[in-house]
Amino acid sequence: MDALFEAASVARQNAYAPYSRFKVAASIRTPSGSIYSGVNVESASFPVGTCAEAGAIAAMVLAGERQISEILIVGEGDALVTPCGACRQRIFEFAGGGDPRIHVAGPGGVRTSFSLHLLLPHAFGPDLMPP
Ligand code: THU
Repeated sequence: MDALFEAASVARQNAYAPYSRFKVAASIRTPSGSIYSGVNVESASFPVGTCAEAGAIAAMVLAGERQISEILIVGEGDALVTPCGACRQRIFEFAGGGDPRIHVAGPGGVRTSFSLHLLLPHAFGPDLMPP
């Protein structure tokens, strides 16, 4: 957990959030033990911006990995920085039939953890697609 938090905290410094000023980073651990991180990347055309979780998933896929064991998201503020709805779906795509833990952290460390199933019940995913 320390390594995940450290990776996300370092990554967060490079988040590109000039519009919201809300820097977020996400770090994924895969079954191999590797860690992949991503940050939010905003755009002057607001809807084009991407979440930190999407960046971390892209890094994982680029490295040839396909399964999320756990993911940690770090951001600031009083409210918990839980993944948005679209990112819950993105995480589910790579849950590998399991139920990855989602750790929500602030700058001081992990604040709480959820199972993906709790955040995205009755999800539609790869198993429901025809072959
Ligand atoms: N954001 C993330 O990157 N991940 C989350 O889990 C919550 C929100 C970003 C999107 C946008 O750049 C900024 O935070 C404000 O919504």
